[in-house]
Amino acid sequence: MKISKTIKQLRQAIALQEKQGRRIGFVPTMGALHEGHLSLIRLAKKHSDFVVVSIFVNPTQFGPKEDYKKYPRDLKKDAALCKTAGADLIFSPSPEEIYPKNFSTYINVEGLTQGLCGASRPGHFRGVATVVVKLFNIVQPDAAVFGQKDAQQLAVIRQMTKDLDLPVKIIGAPIVRERDGLAMSSRNAYLTMEERAEAPALYRSLQLAGSMVKSGKRKADSVKREIAKLLYRDAPLGEIDYIEIVDNETLRPVKVIQKNTLIALAVKFPNARLIDNIVLA
Ligand code: PAJ
Repeated sequence: MKISKTIKQLRQAIALQEKQGRRIGFVPTMGALHEGHLSLIRLAKKHSDFVVVSIFVNPTQFGPKEDYKKYPRDLKKDAALCKTAGADLIFSPSPEEIYPKNFSTYINVEGLTQGLCGASRPGHFRGVATVVVKLFNIVQPDAAVFGQKDAQQLAVIRQMTKDLDLPVKIIGAPIVRERDGLAMSSRNAYLTMEERAEAPALYRSLQLAGSMVKSGKRKADSVKREIAKLLYRDAPLGEIDYIEIVDNETLRPVKVIQKNTLIALAVKFPNARLIDNIVLA
């Protein structure tokens, strides 16, 4: 597996592929790869001929009290996993390569970034949008794959791509879960045994919401109340950050659950903040 550390090296490697008419697929990640990331790589491969995976723990999307320093980093292991999933090239730059001295341009996607995770992680989506637009400009992919796990991130990137006329097709990929329903996440590794045992309650509460809606209970407030009740009961170590029922595109709250509604939640356990969501058709 070839690993490019600099923008120059990467551009040379990609130019060679483009000369041969290959379509470039792209999967941006922060490493600590798991089956969720690998599913994105496989999907990218279906939509392109040459898949680039970036592995970059992006400092600008972490708050001052967040886990930038302790975020798990293991390039060797990640490279081996990328290979098994069919990736063709890894881009693993240093922070200085992406943010040289005097870096001063940031992308701010308004509106969509205010609620949900944006409310409890100020500046987070500014960092995400900035690094993703930079990575798009560096890699210049035909298609890029993002997980529905980070539903707000996906919505922000779709909006930014549209607003800035970026010539890249954005592909959303379904959430990959552990056998007990917990959405896979690099941060699951932070959980203690007790927290890990409670964590599947997030998905159970979303499933409960799904079955309420199926049985005709469509009032957002009462669905939210039932989700909270289940979480209080089954995940007492976790503190609910938010439970939101919003339109999947605009991310604006809805009162009555209809088509294309996103139910999203975040729960803060002592050692990790977990997020999950489902989209109701
Ligand atoms: P990271 O958390 O490493 O996630 C990389 C990609 O994997 C994202 O598109 C995310 O939604 C997806 N992903 C994570 N867990 C998943 C799961 N269980 N099922 C499906 N997809 C999953 O998201 C980021 O990094 C960063 O914000 C990034 C976009 C790379 C910008 O720095």
